[in-house]
Amino acid sequence: MTGPQNSDAYKNYTYDMFMFSMGDGLDEIDAFNEWVEHAQRDRLYCFEAARTGTQKTLVQIQRETGEVLDVLNFSSYNYLGLGYHPEVIRAAQEAIGKFGLGAASSPVISGTYSIHKEFEKALIEFYDLPDCGVTLFSSGYGANMGTIPSFVQPGHHIVMDQASHMSIMEAARLSGARMHFFPHNDPARLETLLKKLSADQTRVLVCAEGVYSSDGDFGRLGEIVPLAKKYGAYVLVDEAHSSLIAGEKGRGVAEMQGVLDRVDLHIITFSKSFAGVGGALIANKKITQYVNWYAKCRLFSCALDPGVTGGMLKVLELARGPEGQQRRKRIRENADYLRELLQGKVELGASQSWIVTVIYRRERITLEVYDFIQRNGLDASIMEFPAVPKNEARFRMFVTSEHTRPQLERAAEIVLAAARHFKF
Ligand SMILES: Cc1ncc(COP(=O)(O)O)c(C=O)c1O
Repeated sequence: MTGPQNSDAYKNYTYDMFMFSMGDGLDEIDAFNEWVEHAQRDRLYCFEAARTGTQKTLVQIQRETGEVLDVLNFSSYNYLGLGYHPEVIRAAQEAIGKFGLGAASSPVISGTYSIHKEFEKALIEFYDLPDCGVTLFSSGYGANMGTIPSFVQPGHHIVMDQASHMSIMEAARLSGARMHFFPHNDPARLETLLKKLSADQTRVLVCAEGVYSSDGDFGRLGEIVPLAKKYGAYVLVDEAHSSLIAGEKGRGVAEMQGVLDRVDLHIITFSKSFAGVGGALIANKKITQYVNWYAKCRLFSCALDPGVTGGMLKVLELARGPEGQQRRKRIRENADYLRELLQGKVELGASQSWIVTVIYRRERITLEVYDFIQRNGLDASIMEFPAVPKNEARFRMFVTSEHTRPQLERAAEIVLAAARHFKF
């Protein structure tokens, strides 16, 4: 592959074109870097623009060119706005004061602190799963990468929704188990697969998610979980985007659809509504005790930062109380309002949640679309192949409980202006 040759040929490149190279040179790396340089030269490169402050609803971002833009923030996972709640910040500061910065060791050596134990206990209470244990990981990605290969191995089967998150797919590959996919959110096709696999009389793990983040729709857990049980399979549910939000008590889509206590492996991530970083497996104590020792990315990696853990303990306390209730109500109302403003005017994903997806399809216009919306005052989260199929490029708007009505209205105006400009 050769790099872009003239002034704007680079606009024809898409992400997948930089992934492979047959020669002995570093062609794909050189071509990719040329693409970035040209996009920067044309002031179109808008990825990794640095935020100059907290992830509030209005933020300032600084592009690689040095340009500073004020944008409405619809690209942060701080769904309940708790990352900048004064009590959360104070709690994190106190924890840093007590434990210092960093955990300084793997959890099985010396990286486990009393605040981790307190946090595990608070999680079990929040989810009201008294017979369960918790395995903490230093990222949500790691929660899947550690749990899945500990639980299934070569000879076992893993059955996944086609829209599964990359961390589930990579973990499945790493496990060596036989991988099977069912069409997105399709319990009938899942049943056909499970019927066939149950004849093997070996372990089968079904993986699903609470909210699928590329469209923002809910997993059909109310059907998928009982089906897995009917065929003797285990079920893992990843509630990355639904923890603390979905369900009356914020326990996720599994709570909302009445199957919380039938899920075998609950995966949660702390980088979204928990406003921190890390992830956890919540499961039967026998399983978590085992995973604690067999999840390699936990055994051979540093424990959760104790300061962040202190902040997240406060997040859990707030999420359990009236403030949690109010924020859950507000985020749902805000998402409904934004959908209402856009419905019928642009192609929306099948969103039912706080992720509102606008599909513009042609990934070749990604740079210009992203540049246009940012310059007009909106930051959203771009998603294209390989995160979604080819020619299904989109941007996702992460609605939070803290967005105001005028902010939602202004964001919708910018989206509609982009749709007119780029004809999507
Ligand atoms: C379903 C799902 N699982 C896991 C992750 C990874 O979480 P983290 O960013 O906390 O590592 C994500 C991230 O967005 C996700 O959407």
